[in-house]
Amino acid sequence: MSNSDVKKCPSEPIPEYAFIGRSNVGKSSLINMLLDRKHLAKTSGRPGKTQLINHFKVNDNWYLVDLPGYGYARVSKRDKSTFQKYITNYFEQREQLVCSFVLVDIRHEPQKVDLEFMQWMGENGIPFCIIFTKADKLKPNVIERNVTKYLDTLVEGMWEEAPQHFITSSSNTLGRDELLAFVDDINIQFFKDNKK
Ligand code: GTP
Ligand code: MG
Repeated sequence: MSNSDVKKCPSEPIPEYAFIGRSNVGKSSLINMLLDRKHLAKTSGRPGKTQLINHFKVNDNWYLVDLPGYGYARVSKRDKSTFQKYITNYFEQREQLVCSFVLVDIRHEPQKVDLEFMQWMGENGIPFCIIFTKADKLKPNVIERNVTKYLDTLVEGMWEEAPQHFITSSSNTLGRDELLAFVDDINIQFFKDNKK
């Protein structure tokens, strides 16, 4: 299901996981990688491909949600705010949301817009993990250096403790098992709690 209004999102009380981050960071590709479906979520080399809130139902009992990217000027021209309003509404209002993944490109230094978004999530009490994407583009020692630097920046800045993180590549499925196991654990707990 795709739409731009959080009130019209599916109403089942099943856990959902959202993928958010700058345009072109690899959100849609990661969803395809996790679900082992090449073209389920639409991807593109040009930023601004995903334009709606897209729910993908998995095994009939949880959702992955693909969202439009932030920080891409051409797309947000109409709406001058950094984060489109329907995206912030989604995070503020979506009760089914159990965890969000903020994606960052592992090759880049921490970007202001990402740090601002994480700060906004923190201020609003919305739990999230960081997913580093495109790890296939770097050598292992550089991956480690960049990740350490990124997490250090968060701790030096606003965070007492860095959020949990995953290192992934949609090209070679790095991080897939770990991420799916993480989701599985939360789902098991969710259904246990909701049976009581
Ligand atoms: P928007 O929908 O525009 O916000 O972008 P997105 O974050 O959904 O990115 P998308 O998945 O469309 O990927 C953007 C580009 O990055 C595409 O050309 C992908 O092929 C490429 N890409 C995504 N993930 C990876 C990865 O893990 N490794 C490499 N090498 N390329 C990737
Ligand atoms: Mg996309």
